[in-house]
Amino acid sequence: MTVSLHEDMAEKYDKLPSTKLKSDSACMSIKIIILAAGQGTRMQSGVPKVLHPLAGQAMLIRILNTCKQIKSSEIFVIGGYQFEILKKAVDASYGVHWLYQEKQLGTAHAVGLAAPLVQEQDQVIVLAGDVPLISEQTITRLLALCSSKQMGIVTQNLHDPSGYGRIKRDQKNNISGIVEHKDASADELEITEINTGIMAIPGKFLLTALPQIKNHNAQKEFYLTDIIALAVESGIGVASLHAKHDFEVKGVNSKKQLADLERQYQRFLADQYMAQQGVSFIDPNRVDFRGSCDFQEDVQIDVNVIFEGENKIGKRCRIGANCILKNVVLGDEVVIEAMSLLENASVESNATIGPFARLRPGTEIKQGGKVGNFVEVKNSILGKNSKANHLSYIGDASIGEEVNIGAGTITCNYDGVNKYKTIIEDYAFIGSNTSLIAPVTIGKGANIGAGSAISKEAPANKLTLARAKQIVIDKWQRPKKQPRKNKPEK
Ligand code: UD1
Ligand code: CA
Repeated sequence: MTVSLHEDMAEKYDKLPSTKLKSDSACMSIKIIILAAGQGTRMQSGVPKVLHPLAGQAMLIRILNTCKQIKSSEIFVIGGYQFEILKKAVDASYGVHWLYQEKQLGTAHAVGLAAPLVQEQDQVIVLAGDVPLISEQTITRLLALCSSKQMGIVTQNLHDPSGYGRIKRDQKNNISGIVEHKDASADELEITEINTGIMAIPGKFLLTALPQIKNHNAQKEFYLTDIIALAVESGIGVASLHAKHDFEVKGVNSKKQLADLERQYQRFLADQYMAQQGVSFIDPNRVDFRGSCDFQEDVQIDVNVIFEGENKIGKRCRIGANCILKNVVLGDEVVIEAMSLLENASVESNATIGPFARLRPGTEIKQGGKVGNFVEVKNSILGKNSKANHLSYIGDASIGEEVNIGAGTITCNYDGVNKYKTIIEDYAFIGSNTSLIAPVTIGKGANIGAGSAISKEAPANKLTLARAKQIVIDKWQRPKKQPRKNKPEK
């Protein structure tokens, strides 16, 4: 049985959640409809497809950030599968108007849910929630194609067009329709120009065309792509443009496509950083950017480094293999040795971190500081030229300049309930394996003997020890092994 979209939608409109939109405003506006109702069966996942991250950010959030740059636009997201989870994942500050599609009857049906909120004079942009890298520039160029007599569509010539709808053109090279991969003939499958699913449609035409779309196709779905043939019939021009980069229009239907797109985009980002900020990568295919980075000149990056959040990296910094940097500021000529993890931390010029170091939030390493292997620093300042070279925990500490923290020093900052501060003044020397039981202050130039447990103030320029005195037992004898007796016979 075929249901006309019109009838089917009329029933759905009654069920639409009440919206507080000013749908009676007469002025032209840009309405962006993002289709995100599908489960994404091919993802083989319990998570809605559009919430899978690409370059560290859920695909839908990525698209919303792009849409935010389109001035005076209203954003509608069509959700369905795990609607509540989807809504929760999007911050209210995006100002999204949510529409619920109970059954995924096709892309035209999904767009139809927003139809009651579309004005004839609007420009309607349709985006797919699973095409995450579309750029603001491409959308803006597309909008320029959209007028009362013309719609616009983004198409692309792909080396491998399989899975996508194919663009059909007439003898004059005008677009005459779109045929879905599943409905295409052998000849049509040869076409390499694909439908990206991204369109700009004049409101008036959209409202008249939608009810005419039928679900007579392989999937028994209402295809938005049928709107192209309807445009041609009604004398509405169909203008097309290509996105600058292929990745902008690639759709994600499976985990493989997600992984392939991730790699393609990561390589693009690495190429940009090389070209525009002079970064040297040992292998630009083995680096991940999940946020934004600002590199000064001649930064060298070894393999498998991950940048998250916002990072600022100074001149001639060197970052070793397998490091993770999240919201980090590095001065000039900082060296981060291999296997180090830095988060919400700043490191001033000429300091060295790692290998195997962990800087946790609130860490500030001043000029020339050194944090060595198996050292964890949290919410602490390590002053100019101070060192904690081996096996230490520095938490909630304020450490002055030229301080030496011996191997195995621990700031005991937590009594199980509260956290306390350790203050170590300039030029202090903390012997190895010392416990500094906070709150405690180590004075300027103080020396702490190795193995001490310090719980009271250690005065400036003095040697303080707090450990059991060494004793020698004179008459001690090493126990001798008794010769083994033979086992009794059974
Ligand atoms: C769609 C296009 C195809 C194009 C490709 C580009 C149609 C019929 N086909 O195919 O021409 O080459 O995108 O990536 O438009 N969705 C809903 N409700 C529905 C159906 C889909 O919200 O009822 C959403 C999906 O969640 C998804 C998007 O629309 O985010 C696209 O749907 P999908 O099923 O992935 O379409 P494709 O087969 O990729
Ligand atoms: Ca898709």
